[in-house]
Formats: sequence, C-alpha cells, structure tokens
Amino acid sequence: MPGKITLSVIKADIGGYVGHSSMHVEIKEAAGKLLQSQKGAGKIIDFHVSHCGDDLELIITHRNGCENPDIHGMAWDIFERCTEVAKSLKLYGAGQDLLADAFSGNIKGMGPGVAEMEIEERTSEPILIFMADKTSAGAWNLPLFRMFADPFNTAGLVISPALHDGFRFEVHDVKSSKRIFFNTPEEMYDLLVFIGAPGRYMVKAVYCKSPEEIGAVSSTERLSLIAGKYVGKDDPVCIVRAQGDFPAVGEVLEPFTMPHIVEGWMRGSHYGPLMPVSLSEANPSRFDGPPRVVGLGFQLAEGKLVGPRDMFDDPSFDRARDLCNIIADHLRNHGPFEPHRLPMEEMEYTTLPGVLEKLEGRWEGMK
Ligand code: 13P
Ligand code: 13P
Ligand code: MG
Ligand code: MG
Repeated sequence: MPGKITLSVIKADIGGYVGHSSMHVEIKEAAGKLLQSQKGAGKIIDFHVSHCGDDLELIITHRNGCENPDIHGMAWDIFERCTEVAKSLKLYGAGQDLLADAFSGNIKGMGPGVAEMEIEERTSEPILIFMADKTSAGAWNLPLFRMFADPFNTAGLVISPALHDGFRFEVHDVKSSKRIFFNTPEEMYDLLVFIGAPGRYMVKAVYCKSPEEIGAVSSTERLSLIAGKYVGKDDPVCIVRAQGDFPAVGEVLEPFTMPHIVEGWMRGSHYGPLMPVSLSEANPSRFDGPPRVVGLGFQLAEGKLVGPRDMFDDPSFDRARDLCNIIADHLRNHGPFEPHRLPMEEMEYTTLPGVLEKLEGRWEGMK
C-alpha cells in the first residue's frame, strides 16, 4: 500500500531489574502482548519491543503521522500497564519516568522520550535505531555530527554525489525552548559552537538539503527540566536512515568506535564513556554504568520491521569497549571529584541544593 509510513520510537523507564541495571522479561512480554493486539486490530503496522538497561523501548510503525494522540496514548497506556507489572514484581523505581498523572494528548513533556519520523519508504529503507541508558539527551550530538558532517568519518561526503552538498541540522535550545537550523559544511563552525554544549543545545534532526528529506531524529526530552529535580536520566533514543542519500550503515556506526564522554552514569551525576554494546551486554552494572548504547538495524518493507540486527554485536567494536573500560577506571579513580562528578551548575537537580541550604548560615564572611 503506498503512502507515508511513520516510525515512532517511544521509551520510558517504568521499573528496573535489579536496581537500575536491566529490564525484567515479564515487562517486555507484557508490552509485546499489548502491541500485538493493536497490530491485530489494524491500529499499527508493526512493532518491536526492546530495552537498553532499565529502559523499555517501543519501536512502532503506523500511518498516523508524528505526534499522533492515538499512538502516543497507546504508548502511555502500555507504560502504565507495564508499571503495574513492575509494581507486582516490586521492581526498582516502578513508573519512574511517568511524570504526569494522566495522558493529555501528547506524550512529550510527560516523562517518556520520543523520536519519530514520517517518511516515504524508499525501494530499500535501512534504518538504525540507537538506544542509550545512563546518559542524557544530547549524547547524540557528537555521533550525529560525525555521521552527517565529518568527512573523516563519512567518506560519502567526499565521494558520493548524493551526499556531497552536505546536510541541514535542526538544533534545539532545551533551556529556552527555541530552535535554529544550520547548513553544513558552510555553517559547520557556527553549528559546533552550540552542539559542543550538549547539556543545552541538542541536535533534534538532520535533513537532506534539497529536496528536504529527514535523515535522523532524536529524543530531546530532559527529565530534570520537566520534573524540576533529578528523577533519573533521559536515556535518549535516535533514529537514522542509511544508504542512498544518507550515510552508509558503516558510516552511521563508525562514530561509536570513539567512546565519547557523556553525562549520566551513577545517580546521573557523573561523566563517563558511552560504551557501544550488543543487547546481551546492555545491562550497566559497574557503578550503574558505564553508559551504554545499543544499535538495532532494520529494513523497512511497507512498514514491516524486518529485523532487528544487533549492530554492535561485532568484534570490530571490542577496542572501543576496551577503551571504555580504561577510561572508566581512570574517571572512577577521581571518586567525588570533578571532572568525574558533574560541575556544580549541573548538580542543581540532585541533593546539592539541600546541602547548600543546610549550610547556608555556616559560611562566614572573610575580610
Ligand atoms: P555494496 O557494494 O556492498 O552495496 O556497498 C556499497 C556501500 O555503500 C558500502 O558502504
Ligand atoms: P536511570 O536513569 O537509568 O534510571 O538511572 C538512574 C540512576 O540513578 C543510576 O544510578
Ligand atoms: Mg531507572
Ligand atoms: Mg535508564
């Protein structure tokens, strides 16, 4: 059937097993059953349920477009029902990311993370879905820059006529709710001024310049900004289209061979390296980390999710994982000192304001 397909990746931490380290199989089974009944009723085309660490990931294809209340409402309902399962097993932090009492039309701003794109499916549509745990929205800035704007990463920018004109980046300022677009390569340095500060400026999407066609989209919801306090990390997701007018699959994966340092890890308050892992290794346990990223590959066929392939289940990422462990040792040796612990301004959503308040009267003036 012709027409546009929407790919929605909607995720939430609705309870961890054990602690914040992983996901209980009954949660995934419950989500799968609920989505199967929606598929049977013709409300969605296809789905895949996955996890990264303690985050439940719903990958859904449908024809309703982005920000559709029925699809978002369905995801919210699934998260609520899975929270009931999590409560019955007394899993840790049951319902952690469900910050609103009831669904109100759009799941954005209610706690879960969302990445969606509506596309005209190509003759062959390779899709990569990245899912992270123990880190923040903004963790995709560096890899997305490398994929779509760095010729040392993406040979196609130099070699392929389809990529040679560069791409268009949509950047969100999540603190002032504003957005801006930059064209690369011509505005690359302006772009880097902002996305080099990923706690505030986030690459929301990347497009082909002409005709404008979406190539990547990420979740940019920041839990601490929604809740006004630390309630767990964002643990973001990102969808990337590959081949043809976009970077090749291998060019999309290549940035993860350099484990960049992201915020998150223990209590969301530490910097650590982002480790690319297979699904079987997406269970962060050392100091609740280090932060993980899983990459699932699919071929879309009339909206059917053919896959997944577990893309980091490949020995060519062993060196990145080894390097992560070396960096992790070195950062851990800093204990409560920066730059392992986040700087003071980033700690305002943790216990720090309470400590500052308690000690306020004890600070003495000095001449
Ligand atoms: P194939 O010749 O295997 O299709 O590969 C082309 C390509 O783009 C590899 O990145
Ligand atoms: P999550 O955001 O994955 O729940 O982790 C929270 C945490 O505090 C880990 O130490
Ligand atoms: Mg958790
Ligand atoms: Mg998590």
